Order: sequence, then C-alpha cells, then structure tokens
Amino acid sequence: MASSLGASPATGLFMVAMLALFTLSSASYFQVGAKDGWTSYTDFNYTRWADDLHFQVDDVLRFVYDNKKENVLLLFPSHYNTCNLTDPVRNWTSGNDSIRLRLAGHFFFMSSPDGQCQGKARVNVKVYPNDGSV
Ligand SMILES: *[C@@H]1O[C@H](CO)[C@@H](O)[C@H](O)[C@H]1NC(C)=O
Ligand SMILES: *[C@@H]1O[C@H](CO)[C@@H](O)[C@H](O)[C@H]1NC(C)=O
Ligand SMILES: *[C@@H]1O[C@H](CO)[C@@H](O)[C@H](O)[C@H]1NC(C)=O
Ligand SMILES: *[C@@H]1O[C@H](CO)[C@@H](O)[C@H](O)[C@H]1NC(C)=O
Repeated sequence: MASSLGASPATGLFMVAMLALFTLSSASYFQVGAKDGWTSYTDFNYTRWADDLHFQVDDVLRFVYDNKKENVLLLFPSHYNTCNLTDPVRNWTSGNDSIRLRLAGHFFFMSSPDGQCQGKARVNVKVYPNDGSV
C-alpha cells in the first residue's frame, strides 16, 4: 500500500530532516538590549531597539540580567499599559532566559522584581509569521 505513494520510509525521514533544517535556519536569536542586556538602570531605549528589528515566529528573545534586580514578566497589553502586575501571563527569574516566540502577535515584557512599575526595562515586540527568511 505505502509503496503506491512512491516514497520509501527513508525518503520520508529525509524530508522531515529537511523540514527541521529549514526551521532552524530561519530562526534568529535576539539579545534584548543588545550589549546592555535587560536592566532598569540604563538609558537604553528598548522600544527603539525593538522597532528597528523584525521578529518572526520561532525567533528567540534572550533576556540576560541580574536576577537580584530584574525579572521578566509577560503581561497582557492592558496590564502593561497601566502597570498592573497582579496577574502576569508568565514570569521568568533565572537571569538568562531564552524565550522562543511561538506565535505571531504583539507581546509585552516588563521587569518588576519588586512589584513596582518604576523601571525602564520594558519592551513590546510584534511577531510576524515566519516567512523563511533570516
Ligand atoms: C524611545 O524610542 C521611542 C521610539 O523611537 C520614542 O517614541 C520614545 O520617545 C523614546 N523614549 C525615550 C525615553 O527617549
Ligand atoms: C489588575 O488586574 C486584575 C486582574 O488581573 C484586576 O482584578 C484588578 O482590578 C486590576 N487592578 C487595577 C488597579 O486595575
Ligand atoms: C515571579 O516568580 C517568582 C519566583 O517564582 C515569585 O517570587 C514572584 O512573586 C513572581 N512575580 C510575579 C509578579 O508573579
Ligand atoms: C545564556 O545561556 C546561553 C545558553 O542558553 C549561553 O549560550 C549564554 O552564554 C548564556 N549567557 C550568559 C550571559 O550567561
């Protein structure tokens, strides 16, 4: 039955491997804040940093920070805008978090280890469908 499709199991495996390669080669890593990393104690403009880049599904945001002073919260947009930290969508605290962007959409990140909204470490990224380019 399977042979009527004209593809051996080996060919199928090869195609899966090619697909995996394609996926890997079209994903990029971005260190948030570039060399400055993720910190509230900077004049680095994270909004401008994000505006200058093109993020697509499968890309990875790497947040590198001092986890005694910062963290990474993913917030609902309305919560980001009003600085409501009661209910983060997600919360990372390792100091070196690689966050893969699995969905297209608009995502809002903020640092608030002390539950206050005083820091400059806040960024929102628009994620586009993966068009296969790097
Ligand atoms: C950061 O950059 C954005 C976009 O260029 C700009 O609108 C904003 O005013 C800047 N913020 C500061 C504090 O300079
Ligand atoms: C913050 O968000 C929560 C839901 O997550 C809501 O119950 C609360 O009223 C909000 N607080 C303010 C000040 O808007
Ligand atoms: C984030 O996670 C840490 C460790 O699990 C926790 O102590 C902290 O309260 C959390 N912050 C928020 C805003 O949920
Ligand atoms: C962060 O973790 C990645 C591996 O996930 C590693 O390659 C990188 O060197 C780490 N960076 C820092 C500053 O620890």
